[in-house]
Order: sequence, then structure tokens, then C-alpha cells
Amino acid sequence: MSLERTLTIIKPDGVEQGNVGDIIQIFEKNQFKIRAAKMLHLTGAAAGGFYAVHRERPFYSDLVRYMSSGPVLVLVLEAENAVSRLRDLMGATDPKKASEGTIRKRFATSIEKNVIHGSDSEENAKTEIGYFFNALELV
Ligand code: CMP
Repeated sequence: MSLERTLTIIKPDGVEQGNVGDIIQIFEKNQFKIRAAKMLHLTGAAAGGFYAVHRERPFYSDLVRYMSSGPVLVLVLEAENAVSRLRDLMGATDPKKASEGTIRKRFATSIEKNVIHGSDSEENAKTEIGYFFNALELV
């Protein structure tokens, strides 16, 4: 077991539908500690930079438009095995394929509007945390 940090984003659909409180409660009930949080309305450039790894994918421009369509809540979570445990709690990218009880199964409406992002590796978590937070903003 190792204490890890991961980056999560409650996406525009989650904020707009009023699911922020429920999702944070899921984090806390599952022993994740919140180490940083900020609400942002991403520009297209900021959303595009964050998802640059997907820029060749057919869904990239729609994804950037969606992620900059309204406010998001960006958080750093800390827990034992935070990266994989958060991804288990989130469920599959496509909510139709997500297991019962997962965040995406409960709250997401489509493969694009899938309510939450979570880092997919510890290395990417470090990069993604650095994209949104400086050292002074991490507790
Ligand atoms: P996320 O886990 O944040 O990582 C990339 C995002 O791209 C993903 O969640 C979805 O919001 C979106 N995405 C992934 N695959 C598709 C797809 N096939 N069609 C549309 N959007 C997608």
C-alpha cells in the first residue's frame, strides 16, 4: 500500500446538475482526504491543454467544447492507492458500461458527459496536479 495523490475534476455536467455535494461525500466516505480544491471555468485553451494527449482523437474538439462549457471543480485527493481506488469508484468511461454504485453509473449521462475525471496513473496524476495547482495551494 502506498499513500498517493490523484487529480479529479467534477465536470460541467456534474456541477450543473448539482451533484458536487454527493460526489464529495463519496470521496470522504471512502477515506479520500481533500488536499486542494478550486472551482474554475476553463477556457478552450486550458481544457485543450489538459486533454492534449487526446488531440488526435475524433472526440477531441467536442470534449474541449464541453469541458469549457461551464464551471468545473478540480480537486487533489489523497489516500492509499488513490489513483486506482478513485478509478474504481468512478466506473467505466462509458456510463452504460459502468458497474452499479459507481459515480458514473449514478450521475453520468453519456461517454462524453461522464461527470468526473480521474488520473489514470501516478505519473499522470503528478503532471495533472501540476497543471492546476502550485505548491502553495497543496496542503
Ligand atoms: P476522461 O476520463 O476525463 O478522459 C477523456 C475524456 O474524453 C473522457 O473522460 C470522456 O469525457 C471523453 N471521451 C472518451 N472517449 C470518448 C468517446 N468515445 N466519445 C466522446 N467522448 C469521449
